[in-house]
Amino acid sequence: MKTAHAASFDEWRSAARGMLAQGIAPHDIRWGGQPVDDLFGAADADGEEAAAGSASATEASGAPVPRRLLSMLETAACYRDPDRWAFLYKVLWRWHAGDHVVVSPADEDGARLHAMVKTVQREIHKMNAFLRFRERPTDRGAPRFVAWFEPQHDVLEPVARHFTRRMGKASWLIATPQGTAMWDGCSLRNGPPAMSGSLDADMDIADDGESLWLAYYRSTFNPARLNTGAMEMHMPVRYWKNLPEGKLIPGLISQAGAGAQRIAQTAAVGERGGKKVRIDAVRAQPERQQPTSLDQCRRCDLWRNATQAIPGAGPVDARIVLVGEQPGDQEDIAGVPFVGPAGKLLDSAFAQAGLDRQSTYLTNAVKHFKWEPRGKRRLHKTPAQLEVDACSYWLDHELAEVGPAVVVALGSTALKAVLKDRKATLTGRLGQAIAHDGKWIVRTWHPSYVLRVPGEEAKTAAFAELVDALRLARRLAEEAPHE
Ligand code: URA
Repeated sequence: MKTAHAASFDEWRSAARGMLAQGIAPHDIRWGGQPVDDLFGAADADGEEAAAGSASATEASGAPVPRRLLSMLETAACYRDPDRWAFLYKVLWRWHAGDHVVVSPADEDGARLHAMVKTVQREIHKMNAFLRFRERPTDRGAPRFVAWFEPQHDVLEPVARHFTRRMGKASWLIATPQGTAMWDGCSLRNGPPAMSGSLDADMDIADDGESLWLAYYRSTFNPARLNTGAMEMHMPVRYWKNLPEGKLIPGLISQAGAGAQRIAQTAAVGERGGKKVRIDAVRAQPERQQPTSLDQCRRCDLWRNATQAIPGAGPVDARIVLVGEQPGDQEDIAGVPFVGPAGKLLDSAFAQAGLDRQSTYLTNAVKHFKWEPRGKRRLHKTPAQLEVDACSYWLDHELAEVGPAVVVALGSTALKAVLKDRKATLTGRLGQAIAHDGKWIVRTWHPSYVLRVPGEEAKTAAFAELVDALRLARRLAEEAPHE
């Protein structure tokens, strides 16, 4: 039994040539990993020494090994396996004996060789991709860039060769637990293994580029598109601990799981038009604390563009409550209902109906002014049913507090709010009173409609109907028993 030693591909190659030249079969060799100086130097158990590889031995080995097989053997030599040198010699031996099927994937040894090559190539690729150099001050003649990596196979050498081409004249050091490679801009040197974590302490690393990279990585991480399976396939978890961005990844993933993804999707969904689903405003917010004052009301979004909320005005024991639609431009500024053009017309109607405005309580179905810009003007915009529903909270409180005998609904928005009937219309029973919830409801035109309706005749008729409604309200209020 011969003993041969190899700690690198070159050492193995040299030893293998010698063995082949002597015709020593694979099962007659015991391979070890001593340093190159000891190669073939140690006596084996039988006291025999293997011959050192030499030019003459090479010549004696016969047919040259094809370049492709040599390249496969060199790559497979990086595969970390205690048996690798013996296996590579077996392949070489069979080839040399004319058994060329040994390089076929269909052959048992060939299949193993191909698998080793593939695994090593993948590891080289990963190390090239995931090695992160960190810049350090260029003092003390030490390398400018340093990197730590824990490869699963002995791929430092091919990776180092790759970076000599990539990094040009810049000096660098790649450290692994198995050894280091150092490039001074001209030549590559191998060194002893390094300890994990020793780089930061020894090398005084403070890398601005790295913090920039981390900020970039964080900002491009899209939680909505996170696919951990695909991510771990491209960047297996075992590499994370030595990647600067690797320390960010678990946090980013857990944040995504904890809601960032949902938030991102919500925003995207929110941008889609979609179909609005009507939900009763009160039932939609069962747990929400109700505002304690109208000023704080956020039950719908109208507060955002209004100057202020406009509460009802008048005696709290009024027998008649008039309900309009919503404050207008002037009411929004004054803070009082019906002070603009519609209010002026209402004043005339009050006068004609013989009703004192001061004795009535005037309010609106919606308390904030809803408008849209038109040049420099703020144009009234009809409130949505959702906004009317949200504001019924305040109207209900007002009606409950005042407890009127008669409510005059000015226009259809007010009528719907008072009757809580989204389908209620003015037409048909205009001017007639209906009993509702212990009080009379009188429906009539909104004063703005009277102002707007085209044609003098129609305007006069509408105004007369408004006056009639107020007269009716007055009579009903007078007739209704006082509580
Ligand atoms: N129109 C209304 O409905 N209410 C007002 O307060 C003013 C105009």
